[in-house]
Amino acid sequence: MTGSLLPAPPLPRELLPDSAAIDAGGRLSVGGVDLLDLCQDVGTPVFVYDEAHLRRRCRQAVEAFGDGVAYASKAFFCLAMARLAHEEGMWIDVSTGGELHVALRAGVPAARLVMHGNNKSERELSAALTAGVGRIVVDSFDEIDRLDRLWRPGDSPKPQVLLRVTPGIEAHTHEYVQTGQDDSKFGFGIASGAAAEAVRRLRHPGSSVELVGVHAHIGSLIFELSSFERATGVLAEFFSPLGLEELCVGGGLGVPYVEGEKAPSIAEWAAAVRGAAGAAGIPASVRLTAEPGRSIAAAAGITCYTVGTIKTLPGIRTYVSVDGGMSDNPRPVLYGSGYEAFLPRATTAARPYTATVVGKHCESGDLIVRDAHLPADLAVGDILATPVTGAYGHSMASNYNKVGRPPVVFVRDGEARTVVRRETDEDLLALDLGL
Ligand code: LLP
Repeated sequence: MTGSLLPAPPLPRELLPDSAAIDAGGRLSVGGVDLLDLCQDVGTPVFVYDEAHLRRRCRQAVEAFGDGVAYASKAFFCLAMARLAHEEGMWIDVSTGGELHVALRAGVPAARLVMHGNNKSERELSAALTAGVGRIVVDSFDEIDRLDRLWRPGDSPKPQVLLRVTPGIEAHTHEYVQTGQDDSKFGFGIASGAAAEAVRRLRHPGSSVELVGVHAHIGSLIFELSSFERATGVLAEFFSPLGLEELCVGGGLGVPYVEGEKAPSIAEWAAAVRGAAGAAGIPASVRLTAEPGRSIAAAAGITCYTVGTIKTLPGIRTYVSVDGGMSDNPRPVLYGSGYEAFLPRATTAARPYTATVVGKHCESGDLIVRDAHLPADLAVGDILATPVTGAYGHSMASNYNKVGRPPVVFVRDGEARTVVRRETDEDLLALDLGL
């Protein structure tokens, strides 16, 4: 192939899942499973997850924050993931009736679920109440009204709720995933006095719920611990006088996606939050929790595609088309997110060429990697992989252009287990009544 000549950095090892192993010829295996063999068996595109990596990140979260730390299921969810996070001691944050349904179907006890959402319907709230979820994160006055309507005097115990507040912090991240600033659809503003008013309502003697704590989530993909420290400081001022026992700082820890990015570990994140809470006078007895999603799942996942065409436009660029695209990874289109690409047959190879990896959808914007570094001998038929695609890929996947969603395969100890099968053409018609 041709393309522009670049310095030739091989794929940084840190972007691969924990159990990745590269043989002398450069072939990649994950969880003891050779990726090329796996693609041969199950086809492409495919989401491959390193199960040991997922488990280790869950354990790190529980070690760092203690009981109550919840996995944010929106990052990546299916029955197997729900069970895994539960087995490793995490609670699970669900933000819709659908996520709640999956968690319950997986057998996660309702008492270990946290129900989120800025617009929970009566149906969703009553499903959460009937199941007996451990926490409801109250997000609006309308939701308080709804809870009051659903509550029958005599119902006991009252559901335990956290109050979601916005601390007025603009985290350093993409504006679409900033959530802690005053101008936000989420929660109650501290600065406006809405949060204090909500506390009065929730603590009213006739209240249908028991207020046990405060919650804030300032955004996602945050690399600077100072953003969390500032938020914790502002939260502490609001939280301390209330004498409550639980403070959740949400999720949002960033992960490296491309060469050169560095993110704090889950342990460093927890230490920073704990330090800031202590410095702001929050007693050590307060249950300080969090809800990591991306930092659990992102680097555990790799997406493998097959290269279908290589088109060189002289003097312009080379397009490498793969058999997936914005339907399995909408993040580059939505947020301009960057990814790396590599060939699992030559994982450590120099990548001297730059080309644009695109999908098969009918849009020019259907990009996977804008300026991918690739080995010089890339050819049609090669398996091309993008690492760090374990979060917000499968969960935000679509059927655009009636492209079926890829399967999810967990690999561990030399075994590959398909936990979500590939969507078939018939599946694409499953909801279509044809009337
Ligand atoms: N807790 C709450 C209340 C949240 O809204 C979120 C993410 C999390 C926890 C987990 O955040 P994480 O640790 O994964 O950053 N689709 C976007 C990310 C949206 C995040 C939404 N909320 C993306 O692909 O970057």
